Amino acid sequence: MSKVLVSNIGMLATPQGTGPKRGTEQGNIQILKDAWVLMEDGLISQVGAGPAPAAEQTIDAQGKLVTPGLVDAHTHLIFGGWRQNELGLKLHGKTYLEIQNAGGGIQSTTNATRAATEEELTAKAARALDEMLSLGVTTCEAKSGYGLATEHELKALRVIDNLNRRHPMDLVATFMGAHLVPAEYKADRAEYIRLVCEEMMPLVKEQGIAKFCDVFCEADTFTMEESRQVLEAGLKYGLRPKIHADEIEAIGGSQLAGEIGAISAEHLIVCPPEGIESLAKGGVVACLLPATSFYLGAVFAPARDMVSAGVPVAMASDFNPGSCPCLNLQFVINLGCLKYKLTPEEVLTAVTLNAACAIDMADRVGSIEPGKQGDLVIWDAPDLDYICYRMGSNLVQTVVKKGTVMG
Ligand code: NIG
Ligand code: FE
Repeated sequence: MSKVLVSNIGMLATPQGTGPKRGTEQGNIQILKDAWVLMEDGLISQVGAGPAPAAEQTIDAQGKLVTPGLVDAHTHLIFGGWRQNELGLKLHGKTYLEIQNAGGGIQSTTNATRAATEEELTAKAARALDEMLSLGVTTCEAKSGYGLATEHELKALRVIDNLNRRHPMDLVATFMGAHLVPAEYKADRAEYIRLVCEEMMPLVKEQGIAKFCDVFCEADTFTMEESRQVLEAGLKYGLRPKIHADEIEAIGGSQLAGEIGAISAEHLIVCPPEGIESLAKGGVVACLLPATSFYLGAVFAPARDMVSAGVPVAMASDFNPGSCPCLNLQFVINLGCLKYKLTPEEVLTAVTLNAACAIDMADRVGSIEPGKQGDLVIWDAPDLDYICYRMGSNLVQTVVKKGTVMG
């Protein structure tokens, strides 16, 4: 058995458990000083403070902060091209939905994604994963949703599946055929939804290449009833529901999330009080994406109200070429404190354990405890406050994934 010890940890900060943290529990994390973590065959076997046990390999944390590897629970990782041209349009006053309705937005990325080969998409996503890993992310969710045709949605999910085998990052796939009604179906929305539910989903299930189903429930995109139809069909094929809700307009997505028992609801920027209530009742994790609010120049989700209402809050990047061309969860950590007014402890839970719960991975990742994977970050920081306070630098010193130091 190969034993790897991380010694000389100045501050070890981690939430604990395998379930979502809500209310005051969200900020109730374990802090150990002068700590160590022992890993055996890639799994954490012991955590303690004071004198450390012996091991074949020792990683000296030099008195720095150690946290669990970050979990990015919401990314649109697989896409062709970029959309830098839309920045100028935005600066001239065009809104996100105006750009989308004029054939830009998701449709233009769909055209580029359809034109890209599986190899090209794999190489591009692998570069993004390398960057995420270097920024402290060790597990990430990835959605399809820029194929919007059977062949291309399956292509995107295969890319995720292959990367999960080849890349050190743990990946969890979400099928999002209902990201937008593509141009060729604009005159027959019902037919596109039928295609998603009756043609794509059975193949996704048969090939076993996605765990979740997501839908963009938004004005001019999918109505609440259409979203319900998609998520209920997903359930039939074993895909647990997720939902993009209340990103730009509140059209009932958060209420639907609670009713249908979604594992998570995403964005929730303009989530109304009845939406928060529904999330709390349904046990739904609120997966908040503050870098998207920042990039869209929008308001920020009512995170404090969610914590008060007992909704477990997770935070993720939403990395995508349109509304958030940013994959840096360290920036999300900053925004969690500055814009959501979450405490550093609540923020840490949001990007580790609660994020892991949002993608059903909390039995394996999201905290530093015996039995979980040896996924952790040694930060060039003396304590947790420091990584919440510093902005714009990569503060990662060393990433350890399944007990192995990443290059
Ligand atoms: O989460 N909201 C829908 N999907 C992405 C944006 C997609 C795009 O603009 O390409 C989001 O914001
Ligand atoms: Fe998104």
